[in-house]
Amino acid sequence: MKKKALITGITGQDGSYLAEYLLGIGYEVHGLVRRVALEDPQRRFTRIAHLLGQLTLHPASLESYPSIFHVMSQHHFDECYHLAAQSFVAESFRDGFSTMNTNINGTHYMLAALRELQRTCRFYFAGSSEMFGKVRESPQNETTPFHPRSPYGISKVAGFDLTRNYREAYNMFCVSGILFNHEGPRRGYEFVTRKITSTVAQIKFGRANELRLGNLDAKRDWGHAKDYVRAMHLMLQRDAPDDYVIATGETHTVRQFCELAFSEVGLNYEEYVRIDEYYLRPAEVDLLIGDSTKARRELPWQPEYTFRELVSEMVKADLASQSSRGLPSPEIFSQANRP
Ligand code: GDD
Repeated sequence: MKKKALITGITGQDGSYLAEYLLGIGYEVHGLVRRVALEDPQRRFTRIAHLLGQLTLHPASLESYPSIFHVMSQHHFDECYHLAAQSFVAESFRDGFSTMNTNINGTHYMLAALRELQRTCRFYFAGSSEMFGKVRESPQNETTPFHPRSPYGISKVAGFDLTRNYREAYNMFCVSGILFNHEGPRRGYEFVTRKITSTVAQIKFGRANELRLGNLDAKRDWGHAKDYVRAMHLMLQRDAPDDYVIATGETHTVRQFCELAFSEVGLNYEEYVRIDEYYLRPAEVDLLIGDSTKARRELPWQPEYTFRELVSEMVKADLASQSSRGLPSPEIFSQANRP
């Protein structure tokens, strides 16, 4: 019998890589998508266009418990990967209320519907290294206290606590992955890595002449999303539910990312990068570096991509898309639109 998985956020970077991975190992894959997305597949399904014939998509909204309940009452799932969220930290400062509503209530609705209808379905919650925020120790592991620095980080701590509470209170198999930053060619253009690589490609093709950024000194532990979705799956295959940090154990500044990305095309970042205060955050997470010893030992999991390979793959993909002028076009996130 094929195992059946449900993915929320299937149209995003992680959802698309996870769907691909699960299909590859013989799963039947279902996804929750907003009705507006179903009505606009050309634009909304770019990351899963190549998989559409193999997926079952259900219209539902994280803001509507009845819509989630309806899907759960129609199908039985072995595993549920809850990835959907408002995931852009900067946006959470602009509209903390909708970030909290979607991220916290959405997670609660998913857990409540599973508890009501299918308690044996294993549940994965997409926790985040943003929960560590103003870090109390380095590197950060599963016992490091949380000190979130944004509405987004706070919403993820709440989701983490909800997930643990359902595990403890109702004896359900509910786990959180505490994933550090993970990127790739499917990353949204608003996140700093993709903003850098897509602008590098535009500059190379003469379609842009500068890159405006905020804090160049922030340090992040950047891995490849393809590596990280394997860890999500492994967490749900354990005998007992537990939470895991997933990270490379290396940290780099935004400046170093720029340096490497520009050097991929033979350019010096200092000639193109300008600081724009608009991109500074009211409260910043200065340093993230993860200790994934537990995941490496117990899952067992380890990343395959190096930092250099990640940057190189992203730049190459953006050069290819610029050269074919393929969609989606980075120009829609031009500096004027201030992503
Ligand atoms: N987005 C953005 N744009 N970030 C910038 C810019 C800019 O122009 N300039 C500097 N930065 C800095 C941010 O201040 C931050 O310190 C760092 O670059 C990374 O920002 P993002 O790429 O937006 O990611 P994030 O670290 O805030 O959050 C991501 O990783 C989390 C895991 O730690 C997101 O994917 C979250 O959803 C995820 O949970």
